Parts: sequence; C-alpha cells; structure tokens
Amino acid sequence: MKGLWIMNKTFQRLTQNGLIMAGALSLFTLGMAAQADDGDLSEETKACLECHDKKGLEIKLENQETLSLHVSTNAFLESVHKDNDCTDCHSDIDETSHGKIKTLIKSRRENSLSKQDVCRDCHKKNYKQYEDSLHSALVKEGSKDAPLCFDCHDPHVQRSVKIVGPIAETPCARCHEDIFKAYSTDVHGLERITKGKAAPICADCHKAHDVKAASFGDGIKDSCLACHKDAVTQHQDWLPNAARHFAAISCPVCHAPGAQRRVNLRLYDNVAGRQVSEKSGVPIFKKRAEAADASSLGLDERALLSLLKEFNQDEAQGSTVLRGRLEVRSGIEAHQLSEKSKAIKDCNTCHQAGAEPFQSVTLTIASPDGRPIRHGVQKAVLTSLTATESVRGFYAIGGTRIKLLDYLLLLVVLGAIGVPLLHMTIKRMFRKIREQDEAARLAQRAQTSSQGLPDDRPSADESQQSRS
Ligand code: HEC
Ligand code: HEC
Ligand code: HEC
Ligand code: HEC
Ligand code: HEC
Ligand code: HEC
Ligand code: HEC
Ligand code: HEC
Ligand code: HEC
Repeated sequence: MKGLWIMNKTFQRLTQNGLIMAGALSLFTLGMAAQADDGDLSEETKACLECHDKKGLEIKLENQETLSLHVSTNAFLESVHKDNDCTDCHSDIDETSHGKIKTLIKSRRENSLSKQDVCRDCHKKNYKQYEDSLHSALVKEGSKDAPLCFDCHDPHVQRSVKIVGPIAETPCARCHEDIFKAYSTDVHGLERITKGKAAPICADCHKAHDVKAASFGDGIKDSCLACHKDAVTQHQDWLPNAARHFAAISCPVCHAPGAQRRVNLRLYDNVAGRQVSEKSGVPIFKKRAEAADASSLGLDERALLSLLKEFNQDEAQGSTVLRGRLEVRSGIEAHQLSEKSKAIKDCNTCHQAGAEPFQSVTLTIASPDGRPIRHGVQKAVLTSLTATESVRGFYAIGGTRIKLLDYLLLLVVLGAIGVPLLHMTIKRMFRKIREQDEAARLAQRAQTSSQGLPDDRPSADESQQSRS
C-alpha cells in the first residue's frame, strides 16, 4: 500500500510534464504487476525462491540420476497452489542446515514415493480414489512405471483442471503413447480437438483417479451411456434386446469396424457377483492352465472343464462359471471408434456359423492388481454341445445359442415377406424348438433322477442373465 502511495505521488508530479507521461505510465503498470503478484507470496516462500528459482539448479542422486531443484516463481504464481507456502508441503526443511548438507536421496522414484503422502492432507477424496485404483495397486506391487500423483500433476506448476488444453497435454499420453495416437484420430479425439470439452478424453471414460482394468466391470460402458443417454433406445430401433447386446458386447466391437474381435470367457463368481481374481502371491491360474494345456495349442473342451472343476473345488463350491463377452483384440483398436455410418449393423457379422468374432477365444482371470491374465482356448469349445450342457451355468455366446439365434434371425428376415406366411413359419418353427426342448428336458430328467439330483431349474447364471 505504501509503495502504491509513493508511486501515485511520483505519478502526479510526472504528469506535469506531458512528454514523460506515456513512458512513466507503462513503467508504473509494469512495476505494479510484478509487485502485486510477488506480494501474494509470503516472505518465507520468497526466501525459498531466492535460491530455488535458478535454472539448472540440480543435484546428483545416489544412483547417478539428476534431480532438478528449480522452481519457477512465475509458474508457481500461475498455479493452483500459489496460496500455499512452500513449507505447507515441505514441512521437513531444517532452516539451520538446509542447503549446506547434502541430502541423501537414492533415486527420483524413491524420492517421489516418500513424498506422495503430502497430497493426502488437502485432497483426501482424490487420494482415496487413487488408492483404490489399478495404478496404485501396481505401485504397491513394486511397479516403477505406474503413476504417482506427481506423474500427472506437478504441484509447482499445476493449473486448474478446468482449463482445457491441447489433447497432447493429458497426463495419460506420456505412458500410453500408442493408445493416445489411436485416440487422437478417432471420432472423439477429432471432436475434442475441434470442439473441446464436450467430447471425452481418457479420464472421461476411465476416470482420472479410480482407473480400473478396462475389460472388467461396467465402468466404461456406464461412462459412454452417461453422455449418450439415448443410446439404448436408439439401438433398440433396429437391434433386438439392445441392453442384452450391450451387456455381452463391448461398444468398440461394432464401433471400431476395422478391428479384429474375439470371445473372452471370463471366470466369474456367480455367488459373489464378480470376476474371479487371483490371490496375491498365489499364481494358480497360470500353473493350472499350463498344466491343463500340455500341447500349448489352447485349452480344449476337456481341459477347460477340468480347470473349471478345480476352481469350483477351491472355495464357494460350485459358484465359478464362465461368462462370454465379445471384445476387440487390442487396446489400440478400442480407441479407433468411427462415426455411426461406419458401425457394424449386419447381424451376420455375428449370427452366422463360423462368424469372425468367434474365431479367437481367450480365458481370463483378474490378477491381484485387477488386470486380466489370459490363456488361449480352442475355438471349437464354443460349438461343443457337451461343454454348454454339462457345466452348470456355463454361459458361452457361441455354439448352440447361436443356432437358436439363427431361428430368431430368420424370423426377422421373414418378417418382410408377409404376415400369413410368417405366421405359419413361426408356428412351425416354435413347434420344432418346443419339441427339441421337450426331448432335452426328458433326457435331463432321466439323467438327474438316476443321479438323485432333483434339480431342473435354469442355472443360476442363465437366470441372472435373463433378468438383465
Ligand atoms: C540458501 C539457499 C536456499 C534456500 C533459502 C532454500 N534452499 Fe532448498 N536447497 C538448497 C540447496 C543448495 C539444496 C541442495 C542440497 C543438497 O545438496 O541436497 C536444496 C535442496 C532442497 C530440497 C531437496 C532436498 C530435500 O531436502 O528434500 C527441497 C525440497 C528444498 N530445497 C526446498 C526448499 C524450501 C521449501 C525452502 C524454503 C523454506 C528452501 N528450500 C530454501 C538451497 C536453498
Ligand atoms: C502442494 C504441495 C507443494 C508445494 C506448495 C510446494 N512443493 Fe515443492 N514439491 C512437492 C512435492 C510433492 C515434491 C516432490 C515431487 C516429485 O517427487 O516429483 C516437490 C519437489 C520439490 C523440489 C525438488 C526436490 C524434490 O524433493 O523433489 C524442490 C526444490 C521444491 N519442491 C521446492 C519447493 C519450493 C521452493 C516451493 C515454494 C515456492 C514448493 N516446493 C512448493 C510439493 C510441493
Ligand atoms: C494417472 C494420472 C493421475 C494421477 C496418478 C492422479 N491424478 Fe489427479 N487428476 C488427473 C486428471 C486427468 C484430472 C482431471 C480430471 C477431470 O477432468 O475429471 C485430475 C484432477 C485432480 C484434481 C481436481 C479435480 C477433482 O477431482 O477434484 C485434484 C485435486 C487431483 N487430481 C489430485 C490428485 C492427487 C492428490 C493424486 C494422488 C493421490 C492424483 N490427483 C493422482 C490425473 C491424475
Ligand atoms: C496444504 C494443502 C495442499 C496440499 C498439501 C496439496 N494441495 Fe493441491 N490444492 C490445494 C488448494 C488450496 C488448491 C486449490 C483448490 C481449488 O482451486 O479448488 C489445490 C488444487 C489442486 C489441484 C487442481 C484442482 C482443480 O480443481 O483444478 C490439483 C490437481 C492438486 N491440487 C494436486 C495436488 C497434489 C498432486 C498434491 C501433492 C503433491 C497437492 N495438491 C497437495 C491445497 C493443497
Ligand atoms: C470414449 C471412451 C474412451 C476414451 C476417451 C479412452 N478410452 Fe481407453 N478404453 C475404452 C474402451 C471401451 C476400452 C476397451 C474396454 C474393453 O475391453 O471393453 C479401453 C481400453 C483401454 C486400455 C486397456 C488396453 C488393453 O490393452 O487392454 C487402456 C490402457 C486405455 N484404454 C487407456 C486410455 C488412454 C490413455 C486414453 C486417452 C488417450 C483412453 N484410454 C481414452 C474407452 C475409452
Ligand atoms: C507414469 C505412467 C502412467 C501414466 C501417466 C498413466 N498410466 Fe495408465 N498404466 C500405466 C502402467 C505402467 C499400467 C500397467 C501396464 C499396462 O497395462 O499398460 C497402466 C495401466 C492402465 C490401464 C489398465 C489397462 C488394462 O489392462 O485394462 C488403464 C485403463 C490406464 N492405465 C488408464 C490410464 C489413464 C486414463 C491415464 C490418465 C488419466 C493413465 N493411465 C496414466 C502407467 C501410466
Ligand atoms: C451390434 C453392434 C453395436 C453395438 C454393440 C453398439 N452399437 Fe452403437 N451403433 C451401431 C450402429 C450400426 C449405429 C448406427 C445406427 C444408425 O445410424 O441407424 C450405432 C449408433 C450409435 C450412436 C449414434 C446414435 C445416433 O443415432 O446418433 C451412438 C452414440 C452409439 N451407437 C453408441 C454406442 C455405445 C455407447 C455402445 C455400447 C454401450 C454401442 N453403441 C454399442 C452398432 C452398435
Ligand atoms: C464426455 C461425453 C462422452 C463420452 C463419455 C462418450 N462420448 Fe461418444 N461422443 C460424444 C460427443 C460429444 C460426440 C460427437 C457429437 C455426437 O455425434 O454426438 C460423440 C460421438 C460418438 C459417436 C459418433 C456418433 C455419430 O453421430 O457418428 C459414437 C459412435 C460414440 N460417440 C460412441 C461412444 C462410445 C462407444 C463411448 C464409450 C466407449 C462414448 N461414445 C463415450 C461424447 C461422449
Ligand atoms: C457384434 C456381434 C453381433 C451383432 C452384429 C448382432 N448380434 Fe445379436 N447377439 C450377439 C450376441 C453375442 C448375443 C448373445 C447375448 C446374450 O445372450 O447375452 C446376441 C443375442 C441376440 C438375440 C437374443 C437376445 C435375447 O433376448 O436373448 C437376438 C434376437 C439377436 N441377437 C438378434 C440380432 C439381430 C436381429 C441383429 C442385427 C440387427 C444382431 N443380433 C446383431 C451378437 C451380435
């Protein structure tokens, strides 16, 4: 305030001479700007910056990496933390010895790990979300590549996240480069570049802090539907039971038309209602799958069944089933979404013997960090009758289900030919299906009564599926 008063006095005196005025005014405003901003910092923080705002200030660490100690005053003044003192976060600085004694730091990563807790004090919610994430699980497992808070936010320069910068500035791009490249030319990437925030970037589909494995759970699908609120009804116009298709097919399967597809059979705990996961430090899935697949050609039907039996003997007896899902084969392909006119609409892409998506099959379990661990399965498993009938709750997309769907499809096609003919066809077709069902039920009853198991309810998984 005092400075301002003196300047004002000087200003009045100078205005007596019109010629000096213009130059003085600009000097005056410049001085004000620098002074006002700097003045926002506490004396203590200014003192820190005296030494630390020196370009090239750095130290060598024990592992020979260099650690920069430079903090730019201007960037700090622009940052969200400008109202904080350095010591709010660096509370362990000892004034008497600081800068004189060499600090022992093993490596940059070690240093970052030891400082991560600082963020918790003021950002409890984000910290908690992060701790539940796949990234954090990877860090706990000892990964040196998974992100800590500072990998995505430099506390000295972080600006408000509401500022929408160029897409390349998303922190995710640095570590997921291939996916970023694919995204930047797909329908959302291009929309984001031209129109900004309305179109999603990484964190809008995956969440920023609570990142989970992409192929498990409904997290991503829910994100899509949160923006595309009418998607179910829009698809329902031409796609029967769209909600069921959405549950069994990942959106990029139809919306990344150039992608290769596959069936993912997921080990699923039907009682707990979630993906089966490996326990930490007990990698039984890999061991069992390799033992069952001695030839390494992929699990055949027998091997798959015996593997399933083993999982069902562990605990929660009989609750482990397989759930089928169609997905694209690589993470890159999941980010090559096109405009709607290119999306797959032809039912035959899937509902036809030998359809492309059913030519590749994998079996997955969740690793302790949540990412899928895969093992190959022979595609014949999908069409093998025994596999679908002899395991309770085995739920695969291919095989006999596909045959039934072919009938349903035929109905759709015949719908165009005419009502009377259609009517007869339906009658005949349903009689045939009914007869087949009846025969199957009789056979099953004969079998179960001989085993003394009075149970011909639909399997738990089937009934759960049909509720959805
Ligand atoms: C007189 C100059 C000077 C001042 C003032 C100063 N520092 Fe430093 N600081 C240094 C030097 C030199 C080092 C490197 C010491 C070494 O070799 O480890 C350093 C290291 C650091 C480090 C990294 C090592 C560690 O202890 O974690 C941090 C963080 C740091 N300073 C923060 C601060 C903060 C915050 C303030 C203000 C409270 C401050 N400094 C004030 C000179 C200074
Ligand atoms: C919001 C918290 C926060 C504020 C405010 C803050 N820092 Fe930091 N600073 C950190 C964290 C966390 C790291 C470690 C980052 C990493 O490991 O990548 C760090 C790193 C540093 C380093 C590098 C040495 C090291 O240990 O990594 C220096 C030097 C430093 N800060 C100085 C300052 C100065 C000077 C100020 C005030 C102008 C300041 N910091 C304000 C959180 C903060
Ligand atoms: C993998 C990158 C990544 C990591 C790790 C990360 N963040 Fe974020 N963070 C982001 C992104 C991206 C946004 C912007 C989110 C958005 O626009 O929805 C964000 C937003 C924020 C926000 C402001 C928005 C809000 O939700 O309130 C805070 C505060 C924040 N992060 C703190 C943290 C803290 C603390 C940590 C460590 C526990 C952390 N972040 C770890 C990427 C990350
Ligand atoms: C002493 C308290 C304090 C600490 C410790 C702290 N922050 Fe902040 N942080 C703030 C304040 C205050 C804001 C500004 C809040 C706002 O704009 O809503 C902020 C804002 C942020 C934002 C942007 C929020 C937005 O809405 O744009 C991010 C990101 C962020 N901090 C990350 C971190 C990270 C990472 C750490 C750990 C290195 C950290 N903060 C430590 C106080 C703190
Ligand atoms: C429009 C929503 C959306 C956006 C935006 C998006 N993703 Fe994805 N992401 C997905 C979908 C969908 C999948 C595949 C999930 C599945 O298997 O069903 C996926 C999968 C992934 C995977 C797992 C890949 C693998 O190998 O299994 C990673 C990693 C990933 N995304 C990172 C990113 C990054 C980084 C960005 C930003 C450059 C990004 N995503 C942007 C929707 C999105
Ligand atoms: C510092 C590096 C780093 C940053 C930054 C980073 N990630 Fe990751 N991320 C990893 C690593 C390492 C993995 C585990 C290896 C893998 O699956 O690629 C991973 C895994 C993932 C996965 C799970 C892949 C799967 O198998 O399903 C998703 C999804 C993901 N990241 C999304 C994001 C998003 C979204 C952001 C930005 C908000 C981001 N990542 C930022 C390093 C990073
Ligand atoms: C069986 C293939 C298939 C699946 C699965 C699928 N879509 Fe579509 N989608 C299409 C086709 C084909 C169109 C174009 C329809 C038209 O133009 O008549 C479309 C159109 C759209 C549109 C544009 C709607 C409009 O009319 O403007 C959006 C948005 C969309 N889909 C989102 C999604 C989301 C989100 C998912 C996953 C939950 C998904 N789709 C799953 C095939 C599919
Ligand atoms: C943050 C909101 C948001 C999220 C999340 C989101 N989208 Fe979009 N999407 C948009 C916007 C905005 C556009 C471009 C405008 C439009 O066509 O609606 C778009 C366009 C599309 C289009 C092209 C539509 C056309 O008319 O050609 C498809 C297909 C699509 N999104 C599918 C998806 C899928 C699949 C997901 C999830 C994996 C998803 N979207 C997630 C906002 C979102
Ligand atoms: C990308 C592959 C794909 C495409 C394209 C596709 N479907 Fe499907 N469809 C499936 C899968 C997988 C299921 C099994 C879903 C389940 O049982 O959970 C299914 C199930 C069905 C069902 C049974 C739904 C129920 O209620 O059980 C009908 C009927 C059907 N599809 C008709 C169609 C028609 C008609 C089209 C074209 C307009 C079509 N589908 C396009 C993959 C596809």
